[in-house]
Amino acid sequence: MKLEDHKLLAETGPGTAMGNLLRRYWTAALLASELEAGGSPVRVRLMGEDLVAIRNTEGKVGLFAERCAHRGASLYFAKNENCKLRCLYHGWQYDLDGTCVDQPNEPPASQFKDKVKQTAYPCIERNGVVWAYMGPADKKPALPDIEWLTVPASHVYVSKRLQHCHWTQGMEGDLDSSHLSILHNDLLKQRAANPRNRSAVWAMREQHPEIKTQVMSSGLLMAARREAEEDTYYWRVNQWFVPGYTNWPIPGDNPQAGHAWVPIDDEWCWVFTFSWHPARPLRDEEVAMMRKGSDIHAPVDPVTFMPTQNVTNDYAGPNAAPVAQPWMGVTALQAQDIAMTESMGPLYDRTQENLVASDLIVAQTRHRLVIAARALEKGVEPQGLDAEAYRLRPLATELPRDVTAWREAVADIMDARPETFKVSV
Ligand code: FES
Ligand SMILES: [Fe+2]
Repeated sequence: MKLEDHKLLAETGPGTAMGNLLRRYWTAALLASELEAGGSPVRVRLMGEDLVAIRNTEGKVGLFAERCAHRGASLYFAKNENCKLRCLYHGWQYDLDGTCVDQPNEPPASQFKDKVKQTAYPCIERNGVVWAYMGPADKKPALPDIEWLTVPASHVYVSKRLQHCHWTQGMEGDLDSSHLSILHNDLLKQRAANPRNRSAVWAMREQHPEIKTQVMSSGLLMAARREAEEDTYYWRVNQWFVPGYTNWPIPGDNPQAGHAWVPIDDEWCWVFTFSWHPARPLRDEEVAMMRKGSDIHAPVDPVTFMPTQNVTNDYAGPNAAPVAQPWMGVTALQAQDIAMTESMGPLYDRTQENLVASDLIVAQTRHRLVIAARALEKGVEPQGLDAEAYRLRPLATELPRDVTAWREAVADIMDARPETFKVSV
């Protein structure tokens, strides 16, 4: 990567080109369960901005800049009362939209409060997540129709974890299918040992699948084709949605999987992991397993959201048995991905990489973001602001070998409506 592109992709703070682009989309800010009506304000850092979230006494959510508009005291210490937030220092009081409604240290006749506005961002709560819009007010799009946002809440489980690396560094793990049968080889082998897991057998057999991509206004379709039976191919289709969402299929009548990658700043990110079933509510036992920590829901500290398998224990977990070499302890699926992407350092210098053909999608998505950020600086509106363009689900299926128009062949199952769901192989 050229240095100027690397820097542009890296910086997400206010006023940066990439920061401006990302702020034109909705951002997953925090879990809805982190906020209690009338309860404690919660600190949230997004794209280098320190913020404070509350749920007011009516249950509505507000997201404010942390520093009070008066003289900058932290609103983390503010009082969440009577549906508003009151700074502890001099008592200035703010509505959820940042309107200053009271200034007790001003004479009653003063109208100064009408001139003051606390930075506050609109929020929508949907399927377990509080979404924030941090861009210009007149450009606010609809929430994207990603399937985990459009199905009923009973069909979705979401968890959150903290990751010490640039948000794209983490996300690129989801876009790089060549590490599957290498980094996750042992896990895949375990699955392939059961001959009923036919797709695991196929994935093990072919380490260089043929990769096809198709550009969409809302992102990229990625299809990996492998030999299946004598006259069939195994097709695995994932989506990358702008700016930071990935979806991948899970075989059987199981919940599907998706990530939202959110910059905290340029060295840390939040990872929201979604499990959703397109056609039915999640079963109690499924949710119980995800809560404990499953393949894709990393077990985390409930306060900091730091995964328990982390850099301090070589990603093996706090009570792991000693191993002969560090890699042997990194056995959990998410821990493997986290270990690899964090071990690059918080912001790897992309001018130092040596990309090969299997990094094509990684390169394409970076390029797409860089181009869009530069275009926005010149006044060209970003793509993917149309909610309906996100109505696609991941899938894995077996198709006759003579099918070449794969996109058309899977269009029905990929169309994210409950009646079209077909169990993945
Ligand atoms: S600093 Fe908040 S009211 Fe003075
Ligand atoms: Fe992985």
